[in-house]
Amino acid sequence: MNLPAAGVPDPARTPARPAPEHARPGPLDPTAPRWWRPPEPHWSIVLTGDDPLRRRVDGALLTVADGRFGTRGTREECGVGCEPWVMAAGVYRQAPGDIPRPLPGPLWFRLDVPGDDDAHERRWLDLRRGVLHRERDGASRLRSVRFASLARPGIALQRTSSDQRPTVADGSSLPVTVGVDQRRWSHDDVEVSETSGIGTITAATCTEWHEGEGRHVVDRLASLDAHPTRRPATGPVLAALEHARTQGAETLLAEHEAAWAARWADAEVAILGDPELELAVRFGLFHLMASAADQDEVAVGARGLTGPAYAGHVFWDADVFVLPFLAATHPPASRAMLEYRLRRLPAARERARASGHAGCRLPWESAVDGSEVTPTSTVALDGTELPVRTGELEEHIVADVAWAAWHHHLWSGDRWVTRGPGRALLLETARYWASRLEQDADGTAHLRGVIGPDEYHEDVDDNAYTNVMVRWHLTRAAELLAPDDDEAERWRDLASRLVDGYDPRRGCHEQFAGYFDLEPLQAAAVGTPPMAADVLLGRERVAGSQLIKQADVLLLHHLVPGAVPPGSLPHDLDVYLPRTAHGSSLSPAVHASLLARQRRPEEAAALLRLAALIDLDDVTDTTAGGLHLAAMGGVWQALAFGFLGVRPHPLGLALDPRPLPRAWDALELTVRFHDQRVRLCLGHDHLEVAGAAGVAVLLPGTVDGATHTTPVRLRRRDEHWSPER
Ligand code: BGC
Repeated sequence: MNLPAAGVPDPARTPARPAPEHARPGPLDPTAPRWWRPPEPHWSIVLTGDDPLRRRVDGALLTVADGRFGTRGTREECGVGCEPWVMAAGVYRQAPGDIPRPLPGPLWFRLDVPGDDDAHERRWLDLRRGVLHRERDGASRLRSVRFASLARPGIALQRTSSDQRPTVADGSSLPVTVGVDQRRWSHDDVEVSETSGIGTITAATCTEWHEGEGRHVVDRLASLDAHPTRRPATGPVLAALEHARTQGAETLLAEHEAAWAARWADAEVAILGDPELELAVRFGLFHLMASAADQDEVAVGARGLTGPAYAGHVFWDADVFVLPFLAATHPPASRAMLEYRLRRLPAARERARASGHAGCRLPWESAVDGSEVTPTSTVALDGTELPVRTGELEEHIVADVAWAAWHHHLWSGDRWVTRGPGRALLLETARYWASRLEQDADGTAHLRGVIGPDEYHEDVDDNAYTNVMVRWHLTRAAELLAPDDDEAERWRDLASRLVDGYDPRRGCHEQFAGYFDLEPLQAAAVGTPPMAADVLLGRERVAGSQLIKQADVLLLHHLVPGAVPPGSLPHDLDVYLPRTAHGSSLSPAVHASLLARQRRPEEAAALLRLAALIDLDDVTDTTAGGLHLAAMGGVWQALAFGFLGVRPHPLGLALDPRPLPRAWDALELTVRFHDQRVRLCLGHDHLEVAGAAGVAVLLPGTVDGATHTTPVRLRRRDEHWSPER
């Protein structure tokens, strides 16, 4: 089998193209292929028609973003039922008595476009190039392209071409965003919009010209800047706009395409034999890459830059689900995510201090300054107010972030984590645990009164997930200190005494103390997952049962497989898989990954498909609020950690592949390991590892037990891999 048939252009062979001097080709012009590219099979999400009831969902799916700013795929003219958003990463508004919520930016793309009820409409998001296309036929033909420049974050461009003249909405190129206090002014042909106080600043131009047989073309060029705590300066925004304008639209498009090509070259994925799944996976990876900037710090909210659900807050979704893909393909982005956490440790320290503890306790939901911003109540469907206790009790986030920092280090070799400021993400947080654990008279250590990943059960003692992650965390942090350091010694001692819920007689973990005494209810008795079992049965009934919301114990096998007893995975799967409602979008992909590890590829593929299509099919009716980034990250992990068994290891890249589903011919994945590009291709009976030469590859079960170096081609015999001579 050959390695990736260059589905992705090699950036080294795709030089940025200079802007031609001749007249600008308009999108209605078929001779302008650079601007107007028909949907490319395997690489384009195509949506046809314009159903007002789908406008919010479509807007989320078709978001274009540059890691700092996202513009939902709302049409130029918006329309009934749409929910347009321009979002800036980490920028929130804070109304009195409310939690922080994303601050909407000016809708720089708005145009009034003459309508046409009989028009046939088609839009497609070109994932390879990061360009949104729109095509409307009928009495008023229209073509448009829109992108958020990956090469120049903060610059966005839209070119709209129509037989009838599009006009700027409101007579302004930066219409007022409802509910936001904005100041607008203009200078020459540039309009500027500033949100008062903190927030965003946007400058935009609107250039209009005629082309060919009376076609009207309007280019809207926007320059955006935002800051979480202060108002950005106007000068740099205007300068960036001016610079972009002098470069010209052709150059902006070419450099943007080259930037996407470079990102894909390090993150290529192909599932030969299953094009639908392959496209869904690429869709997810596109949005993951678009949601995280790679400089300074970046806050990745639960829905990234694609919508306001979960108030744009940063959860463990970012650290545990999104970050691994970025660490393995573009570590500057995972590093920026960790910078976000690091800079908020002062608030975490203050919180620990306030509860009488040492070290730093990170918030379950985080926004501007790192204080806890989880709402304390929510309103149920029937209007009753329900308490929300996750902000108070879901403490595993502390160990999750430490795990993320370590994971970033293993992929990239970034010593910022082990010897630089990033150490605090492991050490200061370990100090919290050391002061938080309770020790009983019999010498055992406990963590009481928490919520684990399964949020159906609140205020439980000794949640296995949390305790094992804490044990892993204390042990890892101790390794960063000198071997004879007293604190390290204390951490190791505590770790060894922390109970973990593992029952050797049954061979499985108990999710928390007393879990097995609860009503032994299974998901199939309630409905077909994914489902919100707490809504279907009521919170109390679910809390008194063994039904769980999402992977909890099982997540340990996925994140820290070396920290659980060997051989316990099949038993834990037998216990927890039938009890899981998949009431969180984070859940199916983790199970897919573990079923792949257990050599149950067909079941793994079914759950993988569910996770990959969660937004494209709007499976849970929540996509309108934004895309489920954590599910997308989980899909990548199921392919990488699950099927390929690829793990970064201090000695090299560890691989431990598992059988593929029958329908797949091969699974191809590109990663970056210590700054080297490595291409993996797994077939039913062979594995090829190529890319940079000389990367150490560690394989269990190789017949000669040897460590290989890339390039290497291996053949499977039973469960053993041996090099092909
Ligand atoms: C899940 C959490 C998740 C949050 C945001 C909840 O429903 O249970 O694990 O962090 O959604 O995605």
